[in-house]
Amino acid sequence: MGLDAGSRPIRGGPQGNSRYSLRPPQRDRERGLPGAAPGCRELVEAFDVVLCRTGRTIHVAQDESVLEALLAAGVRVDSMCHNGLCGTCQTRVLSGDIDHRDSFLSDEERAAGRFMMPCVSRAVGGADIVLDL
Ligand code: FES
Repeated sequence: MGLDAGSRPIRGGPQGNSRYSLRPPQRDRERGLPGAAPGCRELVEAFDVVLCRTGRTIHVAQDESVLEALLAAGVRVDSMCHNGLCGTCQTRVLSGDIDHRDSFLSDEERAAGRFMMPCVSRAVGGADIVLDL
């Protein structure tokens, strides 16, 4: 099976290897972000975020963003747009694979995996992530 022009690499497959998505580009545009209207979001997995400075573990449900979970737990994170556009909520990632859904980081920054936008980005495959919070 060959790859068509709409295929693109996705980081962090089950074994941490790159793989290719065969979904057409418009499918990405339909993928809902936290806060999107019901019916517009793709099924996403819940996961835990470990805060290295306090050792706290915060659960992120399927229907909430990392930022929403952090704020609900009383963790202060500056934010503004809540749509992955402004970079205000940028948070250092200490470990874990991130499904970057923002429009702020460059491709190189996403590949490095050192920062994430918790208002829209999530953990890959429901695995835990550790943040510098
Ligand atoms: S609040 Fe703007 S990128 Fe997260």
